Amino acid sequence: MSILLDLERLSVRYNRLTALSDVSLEARAGEVTTVIGPNGAGKTSLVNAVMGLIPSRGRVTFPLWPKAALSTGARVRARICLVPETRDLFGPMTVLDNLRLGAFVARSERGFDMEARLAEVARLFPRLDERRHQQAQTLSGGERQMLALGRALMLRPRFLMLDEPSLGLAPLVVAEIFRVIEQLKRDGVAILLIEQNARAALRVADHAYVLEGGEVQLQGSAATVMADARVVGAYLGMGRTGGAQGPVAEPPERIEGGLASGSEASRPARDAGVHHARTRPAIGAAS
Ligand SMILES: Nc1ncnc2c1ncn2[C@@H]1O[C@H](COP(=O)(O)OP(=O)(O)OP(=O)(O)O)[C@@H](O)[C@H]1O
Ligand SMILES: [Mg+2]
Repeated sequence: MSILLDLERLSVRYNRLTALSDVSLEARAGEVTTVIGPNGAGKTSLVNAVMGLIPSRGRVTFPLWPKAALSTGARVRARICLVPETRDLFGPMTVLDNLRLGAFVARSERGFDMEARLAEVARLFPRLDERRHQQAQTLSGGERQMLALGRALMLRPRFLMLDEPSLGLAPLVVAEIFRVIEQLKRDGVAILLIEQNARAALRVADHAYVLEGGEVQLQGSAATVMADARVVGAYLGMGRTGGAQGPVAEPPERIEGGLASGSEASRPARDAGVHHARTRPAIGAAS
């Protein structure tokens, strides 16, 4: 399968803090690639750098769409899309208008059909369709995540990055989000899935990376990573590794330790010598 995203020794610093150091990663066409890791591991920094939203060092290339590397706008025009952890909806606007905005850069393409795109999203998320005239800021947390995902799908993405889509959601909504991820994968959309819900992510993924303290600690096929004793211990929990059947219905697991638990490498803010104390945003807080 061809490589869609090629990261070579990507590093991100915030003043004195190294959030990512020398991360190399590939995402391939037709596959779900997942990055799992604890709070502060650098997951959001990774996707923000891939999208060109924050400065980074190293190489970010999109071999199939070389021009995409030029700017964030060029990435969006290449239909590379990020659903951010903060959802970033336009709160006072309706569901429908938020969705329409998702297709904004595509509106001048030949044969562009807004109604057809809206219908596609409505099919995937009937609940959003029922609420199409509702202000985004009045949606429930789960509905906001559906809207954030639906808005990205309006672009008909070729490469979709999802930053913790299950964050803070009830088990049934998590199951619905993962159902849609599976559907997108069947439709051939390549996905980079950032998750703390390691079990759910590894079930849907083809390839997995474990990121801790800004460094890749482990990578391999999702099956290999899921079977790794260290991953089972740190991320999947004792005696809960069977059950690959049925929808994903466990709540996201909060991960505070990691593979390198107790070692220097597991401390997220290791350069600055401070502990990661950021609290997670409330559901859809940024709408
Ligand atoms: N704008 C910023 N300025 C300074 N430090 C930052 C900034 N953004 C992130 N950091 C720090 O960089 C490190 C990595 O943060 P990042 O948000 O990438 O982690 P994460 O893996 O996404 O964590 P979480 O699971 O909590 O979302 C953290 O220690 C964080 O405090
Ligand atoms: Mg994050």
